[in-house]
Amino acid sequence: MALCTATTVPAQRMLVIYYSETGTTKTVAEELQRQTGADIDSIVAQEPYTGIFQETIQRGQREMQSGQMPALKPLTKKLADYDVAFLGYPIWFGTYANPIATLVKECDFADMTVVPFCTFGSGGLNTSTEALRKALPKARVVDGYGVRTARVTAAAKELDRFLKENGYKPGTVEPLPDYSGQQPVTAAERAIFDAACSSYQFPLGEPQTVGKRTTPDSTDYKFTVKSRGMNGEESTTIIYVTVASADGAQPEFTQVVR
Ligand SMILES: Cc1cc2nc3c(=O)[nH]c(=O)nc-3n(C[C@H](O)[C@H](O)[C@H](O)COP(=O)(O)O)c2cc1C
Repeated sequence: MALCTATTVPAQRMLVIYYSETGTTKTVAEELQRQTGADIDSIVAQEPYTGIFQETIQRGQREMQSGQMPALKPLTKKLADYDVAFLGYPIWFGTYANPIATLVKECDFADMTVVPFCTFGSGGLNTSTEALRKALPKARVVDGYGVRTARVTAAAKELDRFLKENGYKPGTVEPLPDYSGQQPVTAAERAIFDAACSSYQFPLGEPQTVGKRTTPDSTDYKFTVKSRGMNGEESTTIIYVTVASADGAQPEFTQVVR
């Protein structure tokens, strides 16, 4: 019999640090703080964004084109006091929001573990994590957590698993099974894809093949999808869909990986 199980976590000084314009990432940040007991700090632009979508799109594009990212107010916490930073942001234009570009230019997170977490309309966890790895070569940027704005109420449960799996919170979880190999999409699977994705504001493309897995709480689908970009070029994306086991549960699209 094992003498000890992984129900304790090594003492790590943890900080949740986040930028949020319209409150979604803040909700996830506060949930992370609640579940880990970490300290928390927010990133604030000297000249705040208005919170109006079109205005932020325009200002964000101007900043990206000119390379003039927004100045930030000083942080209230000292990064050097922590081992682990949960770094949170909304996805803008496929990557981390502009205030994070300023942050990573000014703070190198040297020798720290950086755990990205983000919220998005459709996706961007993988691309923003790769961008953080490039921007923070002195940090250990690990795989993080992301949730669609429309599913932010799912974050508490998903974070519980994420934190336990990665040793940031005591407790153990059953590992989830792998997805089955990709097979051509049947009519029933196509109906699930459409139910999950057709209300999304932009077309997500045509599912070609799908892999599946069954978990104690849901059946999950990993669709390979062909779509066309803004310039008509063809691309392949992965779209994840989940259907909870509860009676009458509606298919939900959880994220796009581009
Ligand atoms: C300027 C801007 C650009 C955005 N770009 C993307 C994007 O490329 N992909 C995406 O999935 N969502 C995108 N979104 C949606 C946000 O990521 C999403 O609404 C997020 O949850 C907002 O977080 P917040 O409430 O913490 O500010 C964008 C939003 C804004 C304002």
